[in-house]
Amino acid sequence: MTASPPSLPLRDTDHVYGRITRFLHWTIAALMLWQFTGMGLKLALGRHPVAGFFVGAHQKVGTVLFVLIVLRVLWALANRGNRPDHGPGLVALAARFGHLLLYAVMVIVPVAALLRAYGSERVFAPFGFQIFPAQVPEIGWMVRVGESLHGEMAWLMLALIAGHVLMVGVHEGMWRDGTLSRMAGRRRAGL
Ligand code: HEM
Ligand code: HEM
Repeated sequence: MTASPPSLPLRDTDHVYGRITRFLHWTIAALMLWQFTGMGLKLALGRHPVAGFFVGAHQKVGTVLFVLIVLRVLWALANRGNRPDHGPGLVALAARFGHLLLYAVMVIVPVAALLRAYGSERVFAPFGFQIFPAQVPEIGWMVRVGESLHGEMAWLMLALIAGHVLMVGVHEGMWRDGTLSRMAGRRRAGL
């Protein structure tokens, strides 16, 4: 008789991220991929139908991302001191700092877009019903701050994500320390 695989805890533990963190991490990663694919295609192809397919849902997907990111930050705070440890040393410090930076840009990017949408003279209704009314006249500082931060910070976030994925590759391919199994699979669940 084969033993049933260990089930994952709901909350995080000191050796594995639990189901809620994983759900948030991978859903956010997939939706980010959608956002960057669309904006990348728009840059490369201009107003092409393939780019339009992705970009047409940009505000909707971005608003859903905002909600998921807020939940993720709250969940991270609720699990503070109760998550896999990065250990001592410079690499661990870099991991902690890198994750903190990722959290910062994850919040800033959609907040900047929503700030611009709030201050704008156009109604913001990504799902067909009004979320923010039109401002007459527009709230200039909100539009300017949002405008100057959203795109720039989004590309910075893409660079940080690339570094993050590269480092996961280094952990898996060179150091073989099982970092990926904290966030994926059930290998560590029974520990
Ligand atoms: C985390 C979620 C989001 C990501 C990763 C993201 C990413 C991006 C990127 C990479 C660009 C292209 C910038 C450029 O052309 O240089 C962009 C543009 C844009 N985004 Fe987002 N976005 C997000 C959320 C949102 C939200 C919530 C809204 C709506 C309120 C929004 C509205 C726009 C608009 C209108 C543009 C085109 C104008 C501009 O370049 O700023 N985005 N976004
Ligand atoms: C293919 C894409 C991705 C892979 C393979 C991946 C993998 C991982 C792994 C293995 C961890 C655990 C690291 C550790 O415990 O030291 C982790 C944590 C983390 N990842 Fe990713 N990730 C990906 C995409 C993303 C994206 C798109 C974001 C955000 C925009 C992100 C943000 C984070 C953050 C902030 C953490 C720290 C844990 C937390 O506090 O939630 N990741 N990731």
